[in-house]
Amino acid sequence: MTERIISLADIGDPLRVQPLAEAIFGRGDRRPDWFARKLVREHVDPGLSQLAIAGEPGDPACWGGYVLVGTPPSRAPAARTAGTGVRVEARGRGLGTALLEAAANAARCAGFAALELWAEHARGSFYAAHGFVVQRSFETWLTFARGQTEDRLPAPLPFDRTKTLVIGEFLREAWEHSDAGERHSFDHGGVRVQVAREGVAFAIHRVLADPEIPADLIAEALRRVVERLPAPAPIVAIALDTVSSITGPLGACLARDGWRVVQRGAVMLRQLGACDAQTVDKGRSPPR
Ligand SMILES: CC(C)(COP(=O)(O)OP(=O)(O)OC[C@H]1O[C@@H](n2cnc3c(N)ncnc32)[C@H](O)[C@@H]1OP(=O)(O)O)[C@@H](O)C(=O)NCCC(=O)NCCS
Repeated sequence: MTERIISLADIGDPLRVQPLAEAIFGRGDRRPDWFARKLVREHVDPGLSQLAIAGEPGDPACWGGYVLVGTPPSRAPAARTAGTGVRVEARGRGLGTALLEAAANAARCAGFAALELWAEHARGSFYAAHGFVVQRSFETWLTFARGQTEDRLPAPLPFDRTKTLVIGEFLREAWEHSDAGERHSFDHGGVRVQVAREGVAFAIHRVLADPEIPADLIAEALRRVVERLPAPAPIVAIALDTVSSITGPLGACLARDGWRVVQRGAVMLRQLGACDAQTVDKGRSPPR
């Protein structure tokens, strides 16, 4: 079997990759439109995204892996991967490497200066071996809602405020492109917590605080969010910055309140050099 890498744009509708994504990562309790929502919220560009195939591009049975590449304006001048996966049975043969290299070259030739990705801790060394350097480390925390109803959840407020410290954040566009009825802002004592519904769960996309606010007051603001969101929905606080001067003590407060760390990871960046026009397009085979 000989795989090659093509642009995701070559298969027409990028939504056709959803079954492959679910075969690799599992379906879990995701909402049915999770993949379509991801494409929109993470600004995925099919022309920069890549697919590994071992036959005709139109035949999903021969698709072995993919990398989605997005161009969210908040990350410029970097492009950003929004998911990389290779089928279990095809791993270890260079497909992941070939997909990443093709994505890097496509982004480079489209004028992007760098390629950014979010890596779980367990994959960090894979990406480091491919030239990605850690920009910041983060922890994602989990707890369960204790509120009664979501009838009167607060309306979304602007994502940004001046003179605030960002304690943790996911992609700005992901929150802004969520339906208005599915995103909320909770303000309490100088802390703003921005939340979006993600299937059965709620995700805290961003926590902003005035720099002088102590960790226990930030924990108090998060406790109020937990008490407002409808039980028993899981709540994940995405990507709290592990090196902020606040998040060390905040972690102790969160642990005391019943939160626990469910994921450790890092934002990683690879600088892109000059465009290699010879390999930017079709038909490249991965190294064996
Ligand atoms: C990570 C992934 C895309 C790699 O794809 P792949 O086709 O197996 O990768 P390659 O064959 O190009 O590279 C394999 C090399 O990476 C190494 N590698 C693979 N997974 C690794 C990991 N988690 N950590 C460190 N190294 C890893 C292999 O040991 C091998 O090293 P070698 O070349 O020195 O022998 C694939 O394992 C995968 O889909 N995993 C599940 C989905 C996933 O976790 N995606 C990333 C989300 S952050």
